[in-house]
Amino acid sequence: MSSIVIVGTQWGDEGKGRVVDVYAADAEMVVRYQGGDNAGHTVKIGDDKYALHLIPSGILRGRPSILGNGMVINPKSLLKEIADLESKGVNVRPFIFISEDAHMIMPYHMALDGASEKTAGNKKIGTTLKGIGPAYTDKMSRNHGIRMGDMHNKEYFRTRLNSIVADKNQILEKIYGMDTFSADAIYDEYMGYYAQIKDMICDTAQIVWDSLKADKFVVFEGANATMLDIDHGTYPFVTCSTATAGGAAVGSGVGPKFIGSSIGVVKAYTSRVGEGPFPTELKNEIGDKIRELGHEYGTTTGRPRRCGWLDVCVLRKAARSNGLDYLAVTHLDILDEFDEIPVCIGYEIDGKVLDIFPSALWKLDNATPVYEVMPGWKTSTADCRSFDELPKNAQNYLNRLSELVEVPVCMVTVGSERSQTIVMIDKV
Ligand code: GDP
Ligand code: IMO
Ligand code: MG
Repeated sequence: MSSIVIVGTQWGDEGKGRVVDVYAADAEMVVRYQGGDNAGHTVKIGDDKYALHLIPSGILRGRPSILGNGMVINPKSLLKEIADLESKGVNVRPFIFISEDAHMIMPYHMALDGASEKTAGNKKIGTTLKGIGPAYTDKMSRNHGIRMGDMHNKEYFRTRLNSIVADKNQILEKIYGMDTFSADAIYDEYMGYYAQIKDMICDTAQIVWDSLKADKFVVFEGANATMLDIDHGTYPFVTCSTATAGGAAVGSGVGPKFIGSSIGVVKAYTSRVGEGPFPTELKNEIGDKIRELGHEYGTTTGRPRRCGWLDVCVLRKAARSNGLDYLAVTHLDILDEFDEIPVCIGYEIDGKVLDIFPSALWKLDNATPVYEVMPGWKTSTADCRSFDELPKNAQNYLNRLSELVEVPVCMVTVGSERSQTIVMIDKV
């Protein structure tokens, strides 16, 4: 049995897609196990940039790409993503396997996501408006979820859709005063999508299991991130799925003993898009500088990302929640220009220092980040291809980070292009 799970340790956009791309080179398959098209995973190969939302990043290496049962899938987005990749010359269709148990995002989910955000006013979550929350809510409600495999049985799909749309229309009309949906129109629309993807919808857990039993190397690709996890994130400012490593088993349909090393992707600073706590956020010119250097604008929504220094308290929580075996540190190059690089090592709360991100967010109300200030290296790292080639202070930064989180660093990236990668530990 050999597999790895790659997870975001912060609030997303750490560079999971490009890290998965490195490991996908040797993988039998890559498996997405949760989330939907709220994710935006970028891989840059030469001058070509690929934005993946639902399809695992392994597709760019021609690897079988599993969309697991833990995902919520908008078939319209999926078809657009397939078309976009094909227009760039990527061979996609033969490699896509969609779990029949994955839930579907329907048009009313997006409408309800928007309505709930609008009525929440300044208490909004700042969602991607892709319908993720309402789709997972329907999954859990049991009465209102529709799975990809339900479309194999047209009668069942039709009947279920009729009753669900009737319920949704009540909510849309009576609570939100919004336009309603026609079950007929949705049925026709989705059957149109189904005709294009029906051969991809299957029992994906069996495919994953067969590979693991045959001791093939399987990569599980996490989306969103630890601090956006429904249980372990900054609730309620989270997404609706289990983004942490434990989700890989549940969301792909194999037992936890099949999940191997857990690799946490760490952006060398911190970014967050959407609302919610962010203790090291820099609402000043330094934050603006990081945003511009790091091109910190959302892959999925284009929103400017909030930026700040690295927070070790967040990473300690990620180490615990995911059982991290390794760290893959990305965006080191973005720190190349800074004289000094503060790293948050604790929060001072009422005279005491807390060294791990708290579950109770109210504790952060009176928290002041405690910084350890590291000297910068003031030289470009973009062309470094080994740890030894990195400037001494950059090496010290990585070593100290690893020491503070108590997890070894297995990979460092110094630019967005595929080759700008330093692999420090080969066998993970
Ligand atoms: P993901 O959601 O975790 O896969 O990350 P995103 O793709 O949403 O965001 C990461 C962004 O940073 C993308 O635009 C990447 O091309 C870019 N990126 C990834 N790694 C690096 C790196 O080491 N340095 C720089 N400068 N950019 C990077
Ligand atoms: P990747 O995989 C960054 C955030 C949203 C919002 C909250 C809930 O690219 O790292 P949702 O639409 O999921 O209900 O929104 O979660 N969010 C992300 N932020 N990267 C992501 O994915 C995200 N997925 C969700 O901005 O704050
Ligand atoms: Mg992203």
